[in-house]
Amino acid sequence: MKSDHKLPAPNRREFLGDSAGLLLGGVLGSSLLSAGESSAAFGAANMPQASSASPRRIIIDTDPGVDDAFAILLALSSPELKVEAITPVSGNVPLELTLPNALRLVEIAGRTDIPVAAGASVPLTRRLITASYVHGEDGLGGVNFPPPKTKPVSETATEIIRRIVRAHPGEVTIVAVGPLTNIATALRSDSELASMIPSLVLMGGSISGGNITPAAEFNFYVDPEAAYVVFHSGIPIVMVGLDVTRKVQLRDDDAAALEAGGNPVSKAAGRIARSTIAQYRRTGFPGFPMMHDPLALATLLDPTLVKLKDFYVNIEIEGELTSGESVAYDHAPVRHSAPLESGATIDGRNADEPFRTNTKVAVDVDAARFMRLLVGRLTGRAS
Ligand code: BDR
Ligand code: CA
Repeated sequence: MKSDHKLPAPNRREFLGDSAGLLLGGVLGSSLLSAGESSAAFGAANMPQASSASPRRIIIDTDPGVDDAFAILLALSSPELKVEAITPVSGNVPLELTLPNALRLVEIAGRTDIPVAAGASVPLTRRLITASYVHGEDGLGGVNFPPPKTKPVSETATEIIRRIVRAHPGEVTIVAVGPLTNIATALRSDSELASMIPSLVLMGGSISGGNITPAAEFNFYVDPEAAYVVFHSGIPIVMVGLDVTRKVQLRDDDAAALEAGGNPVSKAAGRIARSTIAQYRRTGFPGFPMMHDPLALATLLDPTLVKLKDFYVNIEIEGELTSGESVAYDHAPVRHSAPLESGATIDGRNADEPFRTNTKVAVDVDAARFMRLLVGRLTGRAS
């Protein structure tokens, strides 16, 4: 298997030095909103829109993962989208499982024409942390689907992202629903790439507390440095984080509706749903499976499902307890931690920054309408 190997780990000074170059290139080449647009609520008019004439080109970067599987199946059930590639990364479970899981999902959907390219097996600079306690040892809720027959393409995730984006500059939306290692690696390998990506819709982050630590959401926690690179790239970002994804949960009646569906996608989704709910009950994991990732994907299908608000989002990468926290400012000043009395700085970077917005954050969601869309699309009953 060819995958995006771990880069030689940069030390923190090297990492930040490299990222500063990327930041400058990305911001200069971007179409960021100007300062002052901080507190408007956004609806459909502010989301990246698909042309009515042709489906929107997307690349799905993902770590399947129960809710990732729902996001992939939703995309493959939606004619408004043209899935150009799927690029698995380590996250919920290691790449050795997320890669075959992605291949299984394209087989289930009858879409083995879509290239699946192996991404990073480890985060940029940290040890991999996984979440099999949520997603099952197989990453798909413990269903244990048979091994896929389909193989990954020979290109790596980084190579295929670069090739497809460069072939269609300004046209390919990235939907990133795992740790952002692959996206950061692609951006760092090609300084012009950010300016060719019109929008990056991601599941990650939170402005109301984390899920793996009090501060951090899982995807950003696993690879905070990658999130840092992405949020400083200048790509217009739509952040669909825990603030809204916590509100969309898959319940027993949804699982039953999926099981009753007449197509392979619905039946597979029903099996994953039922098995995951059963695992939650067996292990005492609280609540129901949250549909984090399909909600991010669904904002491309119906932007009115969420309410967006402009922020400047930065990522905590220095914290002993808070790494991966997404810190959102809706007005100036963009204040950093107080300087140390000794005058020492953390790599010279603790000066306050000028305010600008870089991210539309989803702050509210019509959860019932989203769940109807998700189950309706997968069963083939409704759009
Ligand atoms: C995110 O982390 C993963 O467990 C899910 O797939 C989702 O992308 C939620 O924090
Ligand atoms: Ca995910």
